[in-house]
Amino acid sequence: MTVIVRDLRPDVRADAEGFSDTRRLALPYMLSTPESVVHTLTHAHPDAHFGQLVAEEDGEIIGTAQISVAHESPEPGQGSANIYVRPGHTGRGAGTLLLRTAEERLGRLGVTKLFTWVLDEPDNRAFAERHGFRASRSAWFLRLDLAGGTLPPRQDPPAGVELRTAADFADDPRPVFELDAEASSDEPSDIDVDLTDYEAWIEETWKQPLLDRDLTTIAVVDGRLAAFSAAYTDGGSRYATAMTGTARAFRGRGLAKLAKNDSLHRARAAGYTEAFTGNDTGNEPMIAINKWFGYETCAKEIRYVRELG
Ligand SMILES: CC(C)(COP(=O)(O)OP(=O)(O)OC[C@H]1O[C@@H](n2cnc3c(N)ncnc32)[C@H](O)[C@@H]1OP(=O)(O)O)[C@@H](O)C(=O)NCCC(=O)NCCS
Repeated sequence: MTVIVRDLRPDVRADAEGFSDTRRLALPYMLSTPESVVHTLTHAHPDAHFGQLVAEEDGEIIGTAQISVAHESPEPGQGSANIYVRPGHTGRGAGTLLLRTAEERLGRLGVTKLFTWVLDEPDNRAFAERHGFRASRSAWFLRLDLAGGTLPPRQDPPAGVELRTAADFADDPRPVFELDAEASSDEPSDIDVDLTDYEAWIEETWKQPLLDRDLTTIAVVDGRLAAFSAAYTDGGSRYATAMTGTARAFRGRGLAKLAKNDSLHRARAAGYTEAFTGNDTGNEPMIAINKWFGYETCAKEIRYVRELG
């Protein structure tokens, strides 16, 4: 039984299904569908050199890697490789082969600093450390039971604040892009993000099949887009917050809570039973917001980094 690593073929349905199944089993807190896998690969910005690798054993996909150059960062030479092996199929060399392939490819593209997210379990951490990575920041996956749990009651927006959906901006999503760009640039991360390319954002983010524009809520204050909570859904029962953000001038007024609460209430009404979200350790306002909703932690992940060369 030999493990091989190759590129995902976006036109082969079994590849997209094997990829998303593996991701869902290894990382159940993030949504992944065959459509989102293909979209992410085929709509990525060319400068990202985005790749999706699969590890295959006897024709079955047992591991995945998403690799890219951090082209939106002002600091050159950074890249990432996120590797997940299907539970029950670890220890067969798939992770090592995926990582080696990722490092070779990204190294050829000028990446000298490689980041990877690792679920906080002893085997995973030992794997990363054996391969020369050192731990940096951490983040949490959180889950909220929408079916059995309780949500904070729905609030009426304060005077001058109107709640809209992303679908309301379908004719001209540029103000949504501008709000996302401002908030994303303030999100704590090892890799700074500077979203400047509107066309790329349309392709990658706005057209992402997981994005549920109807369930995405945007708080508008006197005609200006002030805060948003972006919803992903997978066509089943699972809902995830892709991003919550408030424009700097409007922070500390309860608008992120207002937008996220509206989106969660509408998701529950639409039949979604589980809501996932994430938090970087140290993002105190977002941690406070998620605590207020009653989210419970379900896993921790650690960002590891290694200098290539
Ligand atoms: C995080 C963010 C969305 C918050 O937006 P906001 O509109 O200011 O949030 P709200 O006013 O609805 O709620 C903020 C809560 O955080 C609390 N808070 C603010 N700073 C805090 C701190 N340093 N420590 C603890 N709590 C803090 C506030 O007191 C408030 O809670 P309260 O209503 O119980 O008092 C906004 O800061 C942002 O866009 N940041 C950049 C993007 C980002 O990091 N997004 C999260 C990605 S996971």
